[in-house]
Amino acid sequence: ANGVRFYHEKVINHFEKPRNVGSFPKNEKGVGTGLVGAPACGDVMKLQIKVDDDTGKIVDVKFKTFGCGSAIASSSFMTERVRGLTLEQAGQIKNTEIAKELSLPPVKLHCSMLAEDAIKSAIKDYKSKRVAAAATTVPSG
Ligand code: FES
Ligand code: FES
Repeated sequence: ANGVRFYHEKVINHFEKPRNVGSFPKNEKGVGTGLVGAPACGDVMKLQIKVDDDTGKIVDVKFKTFGCGSAIASSSFMTERVRGLTLEQAGQIKNTEIAKELSLPPVKLHCSMLAEDAIKSAIKDYKSKRVAAAATTVPSG
């Protein structure tokens, strides 16, 4: 019963007071956006990272999740987890870690998978934008 209580408090805390909800302004620099859906239920998660180009570290994170409480809690948890990490470190976070931290039941595993997919997709987006920016940089003069 202790475990159940703990589970509820931790998930409910991230559910009732989700951290870092929102999105960055359209032209904000250094932002990567991940938008993913869960085939199992149709829920959608958008997660954005803001990266310091020099250090390669994630300095800010925002999310919007249209989904169940576990998906919201997972994304809220993820935003706190990846702040300050390098892209490589952030890309290695597994949904099983989130599920364990939030004590999600097996039926809610796919909700935490959304958060893993979303951060990976955001990292990929950031990297592809960097490549695109480098390719379109025309030397002046
Ligand atoms: Fe729709 Fe999870 S099944 S909120
Ligand atoms: Fe589908 Fe939670 S994301 S039920």
